Amino acid sequence: MPKGYSDVLIGLQYGDEGKAKVIDLLAKDYDIVARFNGGANAGHSIETDQGSISLNQVPSSIFQTHTLLYIGSGCVVNLEKLQKEVEKISAMKIEMKDRLFISDQAPVIQPHHILMDELMGGEIGTTKNGIGPAYSDKALRMEGKRLLTIKLGDLLDDPKTFFAQMKNNFIETLNKHDLPARDCELTLQHMQTALDFITPFVQRDTLWLQKKVAKGAKVLFEGAQSVMLDVTKGCVPFVTSSSTVAGAAYVGGDLSPNYHRKTIGVAKAIMSRVGFGPFASEFGGLESENYCMEEGGNSHNRDYEERTYDTTAYLQSENPFEVGIALRMLGREYGTVTRRPRRVGMLDLVQLTHAIRGNGVDLLFLTKCDLLQDFNKTKDGTIPLVTGYKLNDEKIDYVPGSNVSYRKVEPVVEKRDCFTLDTTITEWEKLPPPLLTLLTEIEKKAKCKFLGIGTGPQRDGFVLKG
Ligand code: IMP
Repeated sequence: MPKGYSDVLIGLQYGDEGKAKVIDLLAKDYDIVARFNGGANAGHSIETDQGSISLNQVPSSIFQTHTLLYIGSGCVVNLEKLQKEVEKISAMKIEMKDRLFISDQAPVIQPHHILMDELMGGEIGTTKNGIGPAYSDKALRMEGKRLLTIKLGDLLDDPKTFFAQMKNNFIETLNKHDLPARDCELTLQHMQTALDFITPFVQRDTLWLQKKVAKGAKVLFEGAQSVMLDVTKGCVPFVTSSSTVAGAAYVGGDLSPNYHRKTIGVAKAIMSRVGFGPFASEFGGLESENYCMEEGGNSHNRDYEERTYDTTAYLQSENPFEVGIALRMLGREYGTVTRRPRRVGMLDLVQLTHAIRGNGVDLLFLTKCDLLQDFNKTKDGTIPLVTGYKLNDEKIDYVPGSNVSYRKVEPVVEKRDCFTLDTTITEWEKLPPPLLTLLTEIEKKAKCKFLGIGTGPQRDGFVLKG
């Protein structure tokens, strides 16, 4: 019989739900926090007394210093970025030695992956981290005699051969796309330095996590991106290239599924999405999608919006697109690094219920509930919610599997009373009655219990249900 156990925490919408803060909160009850998918495309921010820290590849429990941190074989590793991240964490006097472990089966992001993403990721609106090309090379394996994917362990065993292979892959990619010759020597040198730095963290025992849990360790798997961005279940092609759903933890996380205990889902009270793709509850629909994604999202970035719009006037607008702009500004819904605008939308209970059912979510955490108060300042002062979907005039209770159909969905919108939140409240029962009514409605509809809600950006800005 298993001695330890594992829980899986995933995002239930389109990413950026605030998973890192929930992990930071829950990690005290676990021994190991482990990533099972994605790479440097994830941006997990945590507010601290020393300011905000953004993590990309390292699991989000860095401040819970008793936890070990594991990057599983389902992730793709950017060596240089990982080195910088570890150095940034160490500069905060947080020790990573003997704490961070990386699977030697994780593929390395190569220079040609970044190049290909820069060339081809624009139509999707990728983060340009080479994620798609790295996962596709992993599936493709070889082209003729040329090895496309290189695992961290292979690189450690024979750096000379595999760095030469990377160079070759870069040259072949340039040739294939008729691009002028270009050197990647300097990048490879930086990668070699980063590899030397990362080497002590690489775990060569492929059963490392399995053995730890067999001896009693409690693991929390931390999903990156979110279920709507899953490469199979999401709105393909407007998705990331890894499996983001709960079950994927037991592939990319290097643990057998018999240790699974429960699944925790994180959703955001006002939704957001980055990149192109269907988003049924988006304020302003297609107009907002095109506006936010113009020039890859760079035209209307945070700085542009802050010097251009007045949130008070825009909240009062009859035009949902303008209300969306105001909500984005008030909710600071911009890429942490890129400052690109995130598309924002109403809480969609059909999508949320779909994600909860499809992933067997046991406990729900709804972040940023304090921001629902912004609806007090809109024209009718109520909270709009998507409570139903109609597709070709028929009611449906699921997210369509085809993008074309999802674009055709007509959301049914209902209004709920707004509230004023005293953010010093720490007890669930003391939350304002309209908010409690809303949370109960969500529990009933999604058939899932609340673990807690987010009530502010600070580290302790939450109320647990108890
Ligand atoms: P990629 O993962 O960089 O290939 O990007 C594919 C899609 O996933 C794009 O729409 C990205 O904006 C989105 N995406 C990737 N990572 C995140 C994330 O951490 N949060 C939100 N969206 C993401």
